[in-house]
Amino acid sequence: MHRRDLLRFLGLTALAGAAGCGGQPASARPSALSRQTSPGAGFVPDVEFSLTAAPDEVALLAGEPTRVWRFTGRLIAGPAGTLQTLPGSYLGPVIRLRRGQRVRVRFANQLAEDSIVHWHGLDVPESADGHPRLAIGPGREYVYDFEVTNRAGTYWYHPHPHMRTGAQVYQGLAGLLLVSDDDEDALGLPSGEAELLCVLQDRRFDARNQLVYQGGGMMEMMNGWLGDRALVSGEPQPTREVDAGWHRVRLLNGSNARIYKLAWSRDLPMTIIGGDGGLLERPVYRRALTLAPGQRADLLLDLTGLAAGTEVHLESQAFAEADASAGGMMGMGGGRMMGGGRGRMMGMTSEMSSVPNGAPLRLMTLRTRARAGRAFVVPDRLPSFDPSWSSRPEASIRHAPLTFQRMQWTLAGRTFAMNEVAQDETVAAGSTHVWEFVNQPGGMGMGMGMDMEAAHPIHMHGRQFRVLDRTGGRTTNTLSAGIVDDGWRDTVLVLPGETVRVQVTFTRHPGLYLYHCHILEHEDMGMMRNFRVT
Ligand code: C2O
Ligand code: CU
Ligand code: CU
Repeated sequence: MHRRDLLRFLGLTALAGAAGCGGQPASARPSALSRQTSPGAGFVPDVEFSLTAAPDEVALLAGEPTRVWRFTGRLIAGPAGTLQTLPGSYLGPVIRLRRGQRVRVRFANQLAEDSIVHWHGLDVPESADGHPRLAIGPGREYVYDFEVTNRAGTYWYHPHPHMRTGAQVYQGLAGLLLVSDDDEDALGLPSGEAELLCVLQDRRFDARNQLVYQGGGMMEMMNGWLGDRALVSGEPQPTREVDAGWHRVRLLNGSNARIYKLAWSRDLPMTIIGGDGGLLERPVYRRALTLAPGQRADLLLDLTGLAAGTEVHLESQAFAEADASAGGMMGMGGGRMMGGGRGRMMGMTSEMSSVPNGAPLRLMTLRTRARAGRAFVVPDRLPSFDPSWSSRPEASIRHAPLTFQRMQWTLAGRTFAMNEVAQDETVAAGSTHVWEFVNQPGGMGMGMGMDMEAAHPIHMHGRQFRVLDRTGGRTTNTLSAGIVDDGWRDTVLVLPGETVRVQVTFTRHPGLYLYHCHILEHEDMGMMRNFRVT
């Protein structure tokens, strides 16, 4: 990695200049697509709002307020209820859109560094996708124009600037984006108070309640940055009062690097009706559900008949750390550097989280009121599954190994460069392909005591894909049983040793899009590539 990039990743951009590393690297030259700073001509929006990223303070823990970065929204035109502010949370407003709506968002950057917003899961034109080369500087505005063509589902938004995504999301910049449509309405799913929105994140706080983030440590590059306490929609381990009836629980794993193995207490089943790209064909039942960073799940939960005051917990069950990440650096097991849980790089020392991936966590408590909730019957089939499911792929299968090489995670042996696209990353608009993600230790470190393994949640921008199959991997991996691959997906977890094949019909919008690991420290360190839709 270039020194300048490394400094930037560490948040030391000023230093990058001072250290005499000036001059734009060739890869950072602005591309032909110009930044959209004023509204597009001829686009008449149904909904228009502003979204501003700025520093703020929130009372999260007893004592001093926590300094965060936060999105705030203001509706300019369109249905009331489009923006729902979460009181007491650092998260951005819940954006509620409808399929078919034409949307204009005026993003204002009031941070002291570059940023850009990406609508994770939405199929939008290149100019609206939030590619890092479109990032705007402090004090600037970016105008997004797009039409909501996605199915009803649980999507989200977060910044996507070069090498600073992890840091900015961690500081609080993220929010849910919920799309509804007529097909979903027809199901009459629990709504209003019976719809629980849960963004799962983990954070570390110092003694003065301030967020601790050091994404640049060697440990963090390898395993990602983990917090030591769980927050749900910005609240540390909240308790919510609920009716004794049916609920719809919409989950987003908005953590930088933590994988959850989610289960309800009292042995209640996980009834999964939706994933990244909306409702599944039919409900899927699990004792525990594996949810990796970037992924969403839509659940139904039946609390009918529970006595008032009954508590039901959402928990992340214990799993072996090695199921999510394992590997040795120069013979030090578990990927740990320097022993004693300290990693050191560039003179920075970072402490390992005291709550490693796989440690059991209580995320949230639901406590029933003395009030019967609504009744609901889970249908055997969920309506309107997209018929393009069965379209035929092009003959060739693209093979993309996920490996650790030259001290970096790579995608097919390559790392991110701003405008670079390889031949095998070029696809025709609307064409259907099979991409195969192969998670094998290898590369330069192979056989030299530097084999690294980690679970990688691989995300593709643009269209939702279908998971064709998943092979290999360790039969003993306790995360496997909780993986749900059904339905439309935009982020798929590839466990150590596994090969996962996905079938994707690329967006009809030409341009440069991204695919990457959604462990944000892996992404920021270059485990990301462009693909070009021609
Ligand atoms: Cu949620 Cu490219 O990201
Ligand atoms: Cu995305
Ligand atoms: Cu990764």
